[in-house]
Amino acid sequence: MKDFYICDCARLENQTITSHFVVAVKQVKSKKNGELYLSLILADRSGQLQANMWDNVGDAISNFDQDDFIKVKGILHKYNGRWQMTVHKIRKLGESEIDYSDYLPKTSKDVDKLWQTVCDYVASFQNPWLKSLLEAFMADEALVAAYKNAPAAKTLHHAFVGGLLDHVVSLFNVCDLASRNYPQVNRDLLLAGAFLHDIGKLHELSYQRSITYTTKGQLLGHMIIELEMLHEKLAGLSGFPAELKILLEHLIISHHGQYEFGSPKLPMFPEALMLHYLDDLDSKMEAMRAQFEREADLETPWTSYNPSLARPLLNTQKFLEKGLETPKPAAAGNPTPSPVAEEENDGEPSKAAEQPEAETVAVAEKGAPTAFEALQRKFESHKVTPKTN
Ligand SMILES: [Fe+2]
Ligand SMILES: [Fe+2]
Repeated sequence: MKDFYICDCARLENQTITSHFVVAVKQVKSKKNGELYLSLILADRSGQLQANMWDNVGDAISNFDQDDFIKVKGILHKYNGRWQMTVHKIRKLGESEIDYSDYLPKTSKDVDKLWQTVCDYVASFQNPWLKSLLEAFMADEALVAAYKNAPAAKTLHHAFVGGLLDHVVSLFNVCDLASRNYPQVNRDLLLAGAFLHDIGKLHELSYQRSITYTTKGQLLGHMIIELEMLHEKLAGLSGFPAELKILLEHLIISHHGQYEFGSPKLPMFPEALMLHYLDDLDSKMEAMRAQFEREADLETPWTSYNPSLARPLLNTQKFLEKGLETPKPAAAGNPTPSPVAEEENDGEPSKAAEQPEAETVAVAEKGAPTAFEALQRKFESHKVTPKTN
């Protein structure tokens, strides 16, 4: 495990640090005088950091690639309000030196407390059949262990270890609140749907080293896998009412709400409609929260373009603090690279003024990926063997 993470920059300003990172972006650029330098975006599970190697880059240019894991020695400083590192040494890490947990983000919440919240909700069920069904899932130790660790998605929301449980507890809370406002809603049925709606992700996604789809997940998707899991548990509950069974099946297969999002049926009863909207709400609220957190250092209340929501976002807290006369996003409504990647120059402290025209010699023309996306690319390029089950 590393002893320095990118989120620790503030306490180490102007200090030399040595740590491990994944290379999210590697660019070879030229200074005005024609000499080459390396412009990198380094990432770990806590964020990403612009890093420049200005001198003696000959070996470094050829010794590692984008998506590799490297050991870096350099000085941390701030440029234009953002943390940067001036790199002195770089070495590619061997496979045995890589601890993937340094790069896979994890929920900051206490997983055992989250699970206890699930248990408390299930204990409050009035319907004995739904209670027995969820208790059957909760008595399955392997399933509980997986439920506590699984991410809720590959990239769009709660894409971190423990993300599924985090998402489901949040969904339980909003379902519970909403059901109090709509007395016609069957609370136990709605909560049972919330527990089951993404449980197939335990088998749809692999998350040992990075988050990726399993072969089963790729071929069947989580809703089909969930029906299988439901039927398996129902087989042990003789006498389970057929009406409840079909309602649960519909809750599962309709929760994406639209045909184009993979649901073969639209939600057709109140609990199914509510589950769909609250699930959608919870995933979008988390996508917004995560983007504000990633871009907390930005002066502007506007974020960069959010690909999952297809828009830049306004951080209302920052906006109210700074007022109307704050910079607008670079190209509101259009995809823009992440703020780290869109720097006009790389902020070499003593040379920035000389290098506004720094040219890119070999540039990957895309926004800076997160550590996750870099890991996923690594998977896809077969540098790491994915687990399939
Ligand atoms: Fe889903
Ligand atoms: Fe969900």
